[in-house]
Amino acid sequence: MEATITNVGIIGAGQMGCGIAQVAAAAGYTVTIYDLSKDRIEAGLATINGNLARQVSNGKMHEDERMAALSRMSGTADVNDLASMDLVIEAATEDESVKRKIFAQLCPALKPEALIATNTSSLSITRLAAATDRPERFMGIHFMNPVPVMKLVELVRGIATEETTFTAAKNFVKSLDKTITVAEDFPAFIVNRILLPMINEAIYTLYEGVGSVDAIDTAMKLGANHPMGPLQLADFIGLDTCLSIMQVLHDGLADSKYRPCPLLVKYVEAGWLGRKSGRGFYDYR
Ligand code: CAA
Repeated sequence: MEATITNVGIIGAGQMGCGIAQVAAAAGYTVTIYDLSKDRIEAGLATINGNLARQVSNGKMHEDERMAALSRMSGTADVNDLASMDLVIEAATEDESVKRKIFAQLCPALKPEALIATNTSSLSITRLAAATDRPERFMGIHFMNPVPVMKLVELVRGIATEETTFTAAKNFVKSLDKTITVAEDFPAFIVNRILLPMINEAIYTLYEGVGSVDAIDTAMKLGANHPMGPLQLADFIGLDTCLSIMQVLHDGLADSKYRPCPLLVKYVEAGWLGRKSGRGFYDYR
């Protein structure tokens, strides 16, 4: 029987977790954001508040809807507060060992029938499912950044995902007014399989001196009608996330065309992670 979803838990108060929390709360779900750091939760809730306030000032949301959405949202640093969740979406950092540790702590805290989804942008759903106690109630729900703006969500089944899980996830995503594409469980699915090699190539273009940061981004904005240049987009996604997706493609598909650009590796080693760290291909300080 398909699960009824009312209470949604979000693991991780980063840009993706908060974006998912925002759209879920705005759609009427009761949302609990879990993060180890109370400061990150506070900062995340403040960002969500700011985004909702902007929607009110743009006339896209009524003030009472904003207040109602905020009242449906809370944060916790105690995983046991997720005991009543019907669906938990993991949106932690794109690192398999971190996600595995989270699932080990999360699973015993959840009710047996709760569904777990991961917002991973590249990792094997089947392998992550096997790190939980409920592979049949586990799948990939991959949102795009910024979540409140981007229409697409990729749905990815693992080998053990039950059809009732898939249907519940599909209905949940539809209720957020998003468009669904279904991808098979291959490294980086559809969007990132295509997008990240393009970004990596842009970094090679910079590395080889074909053009400056500005020339590359202007070329792709005005020459290919992309809303952001690829280097600006890389900074926006986070250079650590870009690198980890390229590594998953390189390892998983064993093709040298996915080799991460050495300049990308160097930036990440320097802690230049893009917007979130204040410096990437652009300076945000
Ligand atoms: N969070 C919430 N809302 C945001 C936002 C954010 N971070 N950034 C912008 N917005 C909203 C603005 O409030 C504005 O809303 P209104 O129309 O209601 O006013 C709207 O988006 C447009 O914003 P702006 O006019 O300020 O800026 P823009 O027109 O330059 O658009 C953009 C900004 C939507 C981010 C646009 O540049 C864009 O589409 N960029 C490409 C984004 C993209 O490719 N995302 C996918 C990344 S890949 C991915 O996510 C997969 C992965 O796993 C890595």
